[in-house]
Amino acid sequence: MQEIKFYNGENIPLELHKVRVVQKLHLVPIERRLEALYEGGFNTFRLSTKDVFLDMLTDSGTNAMSDNQMAAMMQADDAYAGSQSFVRLQKAVEDVLGKKYLLPAHQGRAAENIITNAYVRKGSLIPMNYHFTTTMAHITQYGGKIVELLYDEAYKLNSDHPFKGNMNIEKLEEVIKVHGAKNIPFIRMEASTNLIGGQPFSIQNLRDVRAIADKYGIRLVLDASLLGENAYLVLKREKEFQNSSLGEIIKTMTDTADIVYFSARKLSSSRGGGICTNDITIYRDLEALVPLFEGFLTYGGISVREIEAMAVGLYETLDETVICQSPSFIEYLVNALDKNGVPVVKPAGVLGAHVNAMEICSHIPQSQYPAGALAAALFLISGVRGMERGSVSNQRDEYGNETYADMELVRLAIPRRVFTLSQIKYVEDRMTWLYNNRELIGGLRFVYEPPVLRFFMGGLEPVNDWPEKLMAKFKEDFGESL
Ligand SMILES: Cc1ncc(COP(=O)(O)O)c(C=O)c1O
Repeated sequence: MQEIKFYNGENIPLELHKVRVVQKLHLVPIERRLEALYEGGFNTFRLSTKDVFLDMLTDSGTNAMSDNQMAAMMQADDAYAGSQSFVRLQKAVEDVLGKKYLLPAHQGRAAENIITNAYVRKGSLIPMNYHFTTTMAHITQYGGKIVELLYDEAYKLNSDHPFKGNMNIEKLEEVIKVHGAKNIPFIRMEASTNLIGGQPFSIQNLRDVRAIADKYGIRLVLDASLLGENAYLVLKREKEFQNSSLGEIIKTMTDTADIVYFSARKLSSSRGGGICTNDITIYRDLEALVPLFEGFLTYGGISVREIEAMAVGLYETLDETVICQSPSFIEYLVNALDKNGVPVVKPAGVLGAHVNAMEICSHIPQSQYPAGALAAALFLISGVRGMERGSVSNQRDEYGNETYADMELVRLAIPRRVFTLSQIKYVEDRMTWLYNNRELIGGLRFVYEPPVLRFFMGGLEPVNDWPEKLMAKFKEDFGESL
């Protein structure tokens, strides 16, 4: 894509779309935000959007849809079986992802359920670059274990490594030798590795993983939920592909995998999910599970309108002006926060800006959830809802002990084409104020802890009256401002 320069030399991302449908936002007073935190158990998942100003919880199902997606939804073919909407989606999957067999699922984790149900047993080990919350929950649910094989560089939050999502090839081979290929039903690679700050892998690394998979006869599964953004960063950062199109890069990646699955909430700015393959044996292994868990094979629990939007969204993944928008806003916010001294994950990745709560709240022990506390504090002083991606999002081990996260991050998601630059500047401003007042943030403790995926509905409380003190300082500095 051609660069657009500003006469005044400023380096700001320019929106290459216009906004034609808008939604009113509300910035409620800080006193109400404090009440909302107590009502929601200091868990940003449990906040109501009535109380949220900028919703940076996730990009999942929150990317802006295009006019063409909305138009396609109007011509959906409502049929239990044999819907033409599904035929259009199949074609899009074949054109964009290069796979001819498609199994629809109502979202990404439903695809994970089907794959793990078919292949994971007690004693199975799944090597992966890094886990995603729902992936790990499904694998452990079916009696398997995971092993994460990133290079050490990936754990350095302040780095300039372009591909922190790469899998450690030497360790992968070692793990296979120790555990035996027969206990490894598949190797999983996640595009734009979510939990380490939306960091991509290189195609060279993916090819190296494929070579090992071939050597030991193990399937390779690609989590393609954030494939478009990984492809965009390959285009920007991997020399071999600097003159390739996004379509060529995407196909190069999907060609290496036996199974590709995705959350369409992310990949195609719609809803739903799917699993695709060119291997008829794999298709047959999974086929019967779709009607069992999801719905008939031509809708898989997804509304046909969303299936139409998914098909169009997949083609739009090939458009650099669509895919570049979120990463370029993220890069802008990361650079701005970094310049103001706020510790952030670098290099800027995709999905969102990731703030380093371990460093910002170094006075809060991990047992008091620094990332959860920072996410709550940011909401309190700004109405910006981020997501805790640290120890609250981890699950306890099989003996019920806490497992502390490698990284304590607060993710400020920037869904595609949703926010304006002044809103991003507001986030920068409030996050910087919070960083400068970080000693006022205190810890949290659980008062209600669900046994599975506790971060979604868990309830916490502050260990003392730090939220009231933080609010008092906000009012001192901002007066009557919201
Ligand atoms: C990498 C990755 N895999 C799987 C999922 C699960 O997808 P879904 O939320 O559609 O169930 C997500 C969701 O955020 C994800 O980021």
